[in-house]
Amino acid sequence: MDRRDFLDLDTHDRATLRRMLDAAKAFKAGTPPTAESKPLAGKTLALIFEKPSTRTRVSFEVGMLQLGGDVIVLERESSQLGRGETVADTARVLSRYVDIIMLRTTKVEKLMEMVEHATVPVVNGLTDRTHPCQVMADVMTVEQHLGPIAGKRVAWCGDGNNMATTWIHAAVRFDFELRLACPDQLHPPAGALAWARAQGGRVSVDADLSSAVSGADVVVTDTWVSMGDEPGIVRDNLLRPFQVDDRVMAAAGPNAIFLHCLPAHRGQEVTASVIDGPRSVVWDEAENRLHAQKGILMWCLGKI
Ligand code: CP
Ligand code: NVA
Repeated sequence: MDRRDFLDLDTHDRATLRRMLDAAKAFKAGTPPTAESKPLAGKTLALIFEKPSTRTRVSFEVGMLQLGGDVIVLERESSQLGRGETVADTARVLSRYVDIIMLRTTKVEKLMEMVEHATVPVVNGLTDRTHPCQVMADVMTVEQHLGPIAGKRVAWCGDGNNMATTWIHAAVRFDFELRLACPDQLHPPAGALAWARAQGGRVSVDADLSSAVSGADVVVTDTWVSMGDEPGIVRDNLLRPFQVDDRVMAAAGPNAIFLHCLPAHRGQEVTASVIDGPRSVVWDEAENRLHAQKGILMWCLGKI
């Protein structure tokens, strides 16, 4: 079996992604995809964080324990990474100890360095460019509430950041329409949009929030300041017109749901009335990180 890294939604075909999501749904339903009660017993997962995390850390840790495996957490400042040891050397060493490595890092190039030098599967736990574990949980959440995501309309509101790029990949892989409303200065990377168009994806981006959300089944936003971004008044002013408030939700479809990967900033990218309101499914979304990542771990370790 070739090594199974989970790096991005554009690097897997739709059948493979669906296999992981089917397993995730089965775990959630209490009908695991394998007969073994501890399918990852004897396996160790290393979680490496060069940026902060609450959900990713806890959901991977709990998920791996539920699957019978063990977990080791390394943070930049308390490991030799913080004193300049290279990702390449870290990859070589950890591969002698553990069975799978998840990396949350500042630059996609460091993830690729890990992939090049590790000899065990590598999982992308967020880079400056993408956040695929999150969007797997997001797709699962949409399907939990609205049924199959294929053919649905999703509106992305705000910064064309790592989450926006991963939603672009998802639109192609899961066959839904994605309308991104972003300030001109904060569009998603041109390469991601070009890839989606070349694949025949229904993805558009412009600065018109009301047309993006009109009739949408799903409204999504994210922080105005991602980890590693420079905060400031200029950025706030660019993004303020893209705040998701009750008026924005009223323009969406009658059964529209609201998603946010969290952490959220009430009064900035979303009002409290929306994120704490009846259309918000953000707590299911956070829960689904656990189930989705169990599906991902099972696939990476050859169990599904
Ligand atoms: N959504 C998400 O990845 O959250 P954390 O930064 O807390 O892991
Ligand atoms: N776009 C955010 C997502 C956090 C989970 C960031 O990169 O900080």
